[in-house]
Amino acid sequence: MTNKKEKDEFSGIETTGHEWDGIKELNLPAPRWWLIIFAMTCVWAVGYWVIYPAWPTLSDHTKGTTGWTSHKKLAAEQQEILQQRGESAAKLKIHTLEDIQKDVELYNYAIAGGAAAFKDNCAACHGTGAAGYAGYPNLNDDDWIWGGDLQSIYHTLVVGIRSGHENERNSQMPAFGEILKKEEIDQVTDHVMSLSTGQGANAQGAEIFKQNCASCHGDLGKGGREFGAPNLADAIWLYGSDRASISQQIRMPRQGIMPNWNTRLPDETIKALTIYVHSLGGGEAAQPKE
Ligand code: HEC
Ligand code: HEC
Repeated sequence: MTNKKEKDEFSGIETTGHEWDGIKELNLPAPRWWLIIFAMTCVWAVGYWVIYPAWPTLSDHTKGTTGWTSHKKLAAEQQEILQQRGESAAKLKIHTLEDIQKDVELYNYAIAGGAAAFKDNCAACHGTGAAGYAGYPNLNDDDWIWGGDLQSIYHTLVVGIRSGHENERNSQMPAFGEILKKEEIDQVTDHVMSLSTGQGANAQGAEIFKQNCASCHGDLGKGGREFGAPNLADAIWLYGSDRASISQQIRMPRQGIMPNWNTRLPDETIKALTIYVHSLGGGEAAQPKE
């Protein structure tokens, strides 16, 4: 590399004197448009340093004239979201379940809030998809123990089931292991199984059912919601469909417990959960009052 300035013999332009392996660098000024943009960005940068927090100092940093910080921006955005949420929550509080269902915006808000609250509070027992487990009912189907219209679901959530709440939903299926003879248990088990399968009808079992069970489960075993007595004539079982499970429930009922949520969740969350559970697939229209 030599450092001697000379003119390039082809273009006639002066070189910088830099040369690598015979390739020489022409001494061309940067284009004017580039210089203008460069100057503008320098001015922009200085302006930015003045307005926004920019340079580190020994112990802190320059604050900028506007006082802008990303923390303040975040806080303002969060405030806005909280305010919107507060407004929706307040609306959930004052509107009836039926009105919430009719208002698209409020309905969507309730579904989203209900889904989140379900994950936090209900999924442990009913499963994340609300499909339930043995002893914990599936909330997606249209088989309801206590009722599947908005008011019934809401009431179930507020007071709970065998929860200890003063107005709890409660009924105690007696432990027939202490009431009926073993033979009678077998007969009534046959009868219960025949209700959904249509097979293995047992006349003595039917008679025992009429005397001991129909008061809660109905003559045809279709269930009784005022007693929380499940439908025994469908193929949906809370505690298992096999003979051993059914016989065990008759001898020694489990008396499933669900907590009352009125002391655990604010009313607007219970309403959102009601709308959400009702939307899962089995929601029923309001039952006419008798
Ligand atoms: C500790 C377990 C547990 C938790 C937590 C729980 N449940 Fe339940 N839930 C049950 C049991 C057990 C039953 C059935 C009780 C019975 O035998 O009637 C039930 C019944 C229900 C029913 C009545 C179903 C019907 O067919 O009538 C609804 C609705 C319900 N739960 C919704 C919820 C919601 C919503 C949450 C969350 C806020 C929740 N559950 C949390 C245990 C639980
Ligand atoms: C006082 C009302 C009452 C009476 C009487 C009653 N049951 Fe029940 N039965 C219930 C309730 C409530 C449940 C759900 C309770 C639970 O979680 O243990 C239930 C649940 C059942 C189940 C489980 C259903 C499932 O889906 O897994 C079977 C089977 C059953 N009963 C059979 C009988 C038979 C048979 C008799 C008569 C010998 C009888 N019940 C009498 C109230 C009653």
